[in-house]
Amino acid sequence: MTALKLFASLLVGLCAYYFYSQETFSEEMVRGKRVLVTGSSTGIGEQMAYEFARMGAHVMVTARTEKRLQEVVQKCLDLGASSAWYVVADMSNLTSAQQVVEETKTVLGGLDLLVLNHVKVYTGLHPFQGDMESVISTMTVNFFSYVQLTVSALSALNESRGSIIVISSMSGRIPSPFSVVYSSTKFALEGFYSGLRTEMYLQKIDLPITVAVLGYIDTDAALRALGGKIAIKASPKEDCAREIVKGGVLRQREVFYPYWVTKPVLLLRDWMPEVLEHMMDISYKVENTL
Ligand SMILES: NC(=O)c1ccc[n+]([C@@H]2O[C@H](COP(=O)([O-])OP(=O)(O)OC[C@H]3O[C@@H](n4cnc5c(N)ncnc54)[C@H](OP(=O)(O)O)[C@@H]3O)[C@@H](O)[C@H]2O)c1
Repeated sequence: MTALKLFASLLVGLCAYYFYSQETFSEEMVRGKRVLVTGSSTGIGEQMAYEFARMGAHVMVTARTEKRLQEVVQKCLDLGASSAWYVVADMSNLTSAQQVVEETKTVLGGLDLLVLNHVKVYTGLHPFQGDMESVISTMTVNFFSYVQLTVSALSALNESRGSIIVISSMSGRIPSPFSVVYSSTKFALEGFYSGLRTEMYLQKIDLPITVAVLGYIDTDAALRALGGKIAIKASPKEDCAREIVKGGVLRQREVFYPYWVTKPVLLLRDWMPEVLEHMMDISYKVENTL
């Protein structure tokens, strides 16, 4: 009994130390930082660009749709960005990915934060039907281009002691039925960036990597793809973007959003997979995915 009490006090003490020793977020941490946000013409990427802008960062946005990027840049300036720029690029071409980083380094004079967020247009929920072309193109946009951007940005990030934010998903932690290709690309990201983070740590290289694990967020694209197919409420993209930016700036290893919808489910995955499967059975409207 005494040993148990001792253990409990030790645990409480360790938790208290952990929470109180965490750095607190301030907007000043962002002012003047040079940030590249990919997939920032719409959705969560667009909202993250606005968050950085509001706190006075130099923001570079990129995607394929020039008109949208021009509007995002204008809004970033209105919100108070130190400067805002765009570069049009298609991430299905790895040379373009490389050029985005080169352009960013030239225009911003370096790079402090690389935010990897773009994603191939969601096609909704469908059973996998063996379309290899789609596997390869999705893997290229959602995974290979992330790695290419990272490789191209590494020296600039090392120079600025910068960091990386990678946008993942619950689908990168729990295999997702009816979107197995998308899910696989997120698993690939999780494997690559978590491994890279540890590799950097073991080599005493200071390159923090924040992986954001997201639930269902109310972007137009996600609502279009998933609306009516899953019985889960979507969370607001503005709040989501704010949490990711905060976690990334604080150099946290992971951000879970919405926390109470994502984190406990991951515990279930390891401890009670049958319960999780049953929850999926309730959440998915399978008849709408065929
Ligand atoms: N929304 C959710 O429920 C949810 C849940 C979990 C995780 N996530 C993750 O959050 C991130 C953002 O999702 P979102 O819902 O905000 O998506 P979104 O609104 O569809 O935004 C995707 C962005 O990627 C760009 N993009 C698409 N294909 C591209 C390509 N080939 N080359 C360059 N850019 C390209 C799009 O712009 P253009 O079309 O102009 O190129 C757009 O700016 C993704 O990584 C996604 O996996 C979202």
